[in-house]
Amino acid sequence: MNCQTVLILDFGGQYKELIARRVRECGVYSIIKPYTITKEEIEKIAPIGMIFTGGPNSVYAEDSPVCDPAIFELGIPLLGICYGMQLICHMQGGKVDSCEKSEYGAMKMNIVAESSLFKGMSESFNVLMSHTDRVYSLPSDFKATASTDTCPVASYSCDERKIYGVQFHPEVEITENGTDVIRNFLYEVCGALGDYSMADYLKTQIAAVRERVDEDGRILLGLSGGVDSSVCAALLSEAVGDRLVCIYIDHGLMRKNETDEIRAVFEKRSLNFVYVDAEERFLTRLKGVTDPEQKRKIIGDEFVRTFEDEAKKQGNPEFLAQGTIYPDIVESGANKSAVIKSHHNVGGLPEKMSFKGVIEPLSGLFKDEVRKLGIMLGLPETLVQRQPFPGPGLAIRIIGEITKEKCDILRDADAIFRYELMNSNDEAARADQYFAVLTDTKSVGVMGDFRTYDYTLALRAVRTSDFMTCEFARLPYEVLARASSRITNEVSGINRVVYDVTSKPPATIEWE
Ligand code: XMP
Repeated sequence: MNCQTVLILDFGGQYKELIARRVRECGVYSIIKPYTITKEEIEKIAPIGMIFTGGPNSVYAEDSPVCDPAIFELGIPLLGICYGMQLICHMQGGKVDSCEKSEYGAMKMNIVAESSLFKGMSESFNVLMSHTDRVYSLPSDFKATASTDTCPVASYSCDERKIYGVQFHPEVEITENGTDVIRNFLYEVCGALGDYSMADYLKTQIAAVRERVDEDGRILLGLSGGVDSSVCAALLSEAVGDRLVCIYIDHGLMRKNETDEIRAVFEKRSLNFVYVDAEERFLTRLKGVTDPEQKRKIIGDEFVRTFEDEAKKQGNPEFLAQGTIYPDIVESGANKSAVIKSHHNVGGLPEKMSFKGVIEPLSGLFKDEVRKLGIMLGLPETLVQRQPFPGPGLAIRIIGEITKEKCDILRDADAIFRYELMNSNDEAARADQYFAVLTDTKSVGVMGDFRTYDYTLALRAVRTSDFMTCEFARLPYEVLARASSRITNEVSGINRVVYDVTSKPPATIEWE
């Protein structure tokens, strides 16, 4: 990279990628390295500044992570966050011990002395605190610059040596002025020029992929048509062109026109796009199956088989690529909870296949950054802004047995509902995920002079930012009325439409 670099030293904190992301947002390139990095290795990187992350340990405990003490001789500006802040203090002769009272949550913090970190900020603001240890005394050349009611040293500085520490987490959204604290460190202390952009990220990733995969190496990617795998495909095709083999399996459970749209985008790009029409294969295996978990398992299993068959036909490329993004890593790492639904994703499938390596060029990015990258790579807005769509597709939105006829009914109804929502100018019609569910309930209706006995369709629209919990969207009645009227008039097989007014918990977003 021909731009300035900030080095983030990882002490095991949950938020290291979030810190990297904030630094990127400020227009500065950053890399994350383990805390064991040596002074010599750092000299090679020549960072303009270093950020020590938080971590779950206590600095005074045995075996707690400690960096090379020689780092302090380098004269590189330092910002310590939480554990990082305590560690710097501890290693420079200050005292850290457990708090009488732990602080968790948003706390009001008061600035008590001038600090470059707080330039341009009001005297008190809310910050996220999450700690059981705190600084009791500072090294002689340090001064406390902010405090909370229970934490006298919520922040310190040593301007002469350009060392700064904050007990709070400036990287999280709850902390007011959080990004500005980081920006001040970068621009006021480290002399950042702001010479980094997403275009640079793209260049670095492309170069890294080329280096990893030698001149005739090939990469296999399971392309689902979702945002992450699509952006991954576009990025890799820039890197290796038609040595990228993308396998798109149409299980016959996609939404209306979805497969055509995905094919239109990828068949014209410079990559090897393999379209697999596997509808019959999947529907045959799903025949007569009504249990939701069994449906998911069958679909996951059939995906693996189809994927393996196709990969073999393609001469089994050496590398496997996955569109894993950073929140996926966090969620899977933290997930020790009971299985509510076995999630199926194309990316994590071929466990039995052996590869020379796995390539995950998006693994440091957050969803909105992936979307930005997608736009830069020339993917259409409709694809890049696509709402989540589960791997098992319409199979988990058709209650009871799945048949082609039911899939077609649901596809038509779902397309109408999504159209009406997307084309409404009413702010209240905004939702983060919305779709139709074909229930297995039939009811009596009347059409013209005739009795009907047809399916009940449920509409679902939710508002959420993390998809772990959600509120049902309070959609305007006009939008619901229009969707209902169009669906019952235009889609044969449905004579009743209901709206799902449950949040998560207790319900889940999908019905199965
Ligand atoms: P639930 O229904 O668990 O859904 O509240 C939360 C989010 O996850 C999506 N979802 C899936 N995504 N494979 C996926 O890739 C799956 O098997 C799967 N099941 C649910 C769901 O659409 C929602 O956004």
